[in-house]
Amino acid sequence: MRTELHFHLLPGVDDGPETMDESLTLARLAVEDGTATVVCTPHARDVDVRTVPERVEQLRAELRAAGIPLKIVPGVELAQDDIARLGRAELEIAAHGPADRRWVLLEAPLFLDAPGLLEAAGELTARGYGLLLGHPERCADLMAVGGGLDELLQAGVRLQVNGSSLTGRHGDQAQEWALELARGGRVSVVASDAHRPTRGPVLTLAVAALVQAGVTPEAAERMVAATPRCLLEEGLAAPSLSRR
Ligand SMILES: [Fe+2]
Repeated sequence: MRTELHFHLLPGVDDGPETMDESLTLARLAVEDGTATVVCTPHARDVDVRTVPERVEQLRAELRAAGIPLKIVPGVELAQDDIARLGRAELEIAAHGPADRRWVLLEAPLFLDAPGLLEAAGELTARGYGLLLGHPERCADLMAVGGGLDELLQAGVRLQVNGSSLTGRHGDQAQEWALELARGGRVSVVASDAHRPTRGPVLTLAVAALVQAGVTPEAAERMVAATPRCLLEEGLAAPSLSRR
């Protein structure tokens, strides 16, 4: 069964689903897409992170009442501008994995500069967290030669590409970069980064796009199932990045 590590499922907190009904529809779509576990990752800038566990608990009760067989766990999507204001307690809500291998989801910026991202990555590393970098293929600054992606990968940062990039939703360039990263063996995880029923779960389509591009079916499925599950269970070591 598949595991989604980047998914906006909580209602009424960010640019994800607006209502509980929309959240339940998204959850049903995730189950139909072959997913057993979703990490709820609202944008840290839009939510009081300390309320995320309670919001997940409320949604869990609704899923149970609606008979939707989906396991959900709390998480947060961090942006580079969030890090300085978040304390230990908030980062621990965002983090996953066993005590000595905690990691967080840090998004590559769509509009901001990549040097700021490297600085944020260094700060999180200094605070002891491993890093899963969300949608690098959507950040032209980072994908440029010398943009810092190689440095991050070499240090032990893992990459999460969006299924919606692989299917072409974010344009030809993002699709090309996502496929190039995947074919090069640099992608650990593919996630839907779903926001609403009209931008829903796409893991089945993403796996098909990967296979069509020459990735083996086993490797493609691993990116949406075994590897994300393993990251939740076994965690990720903090990369060896120097603080900027
Ligand atoms: Fe997201």
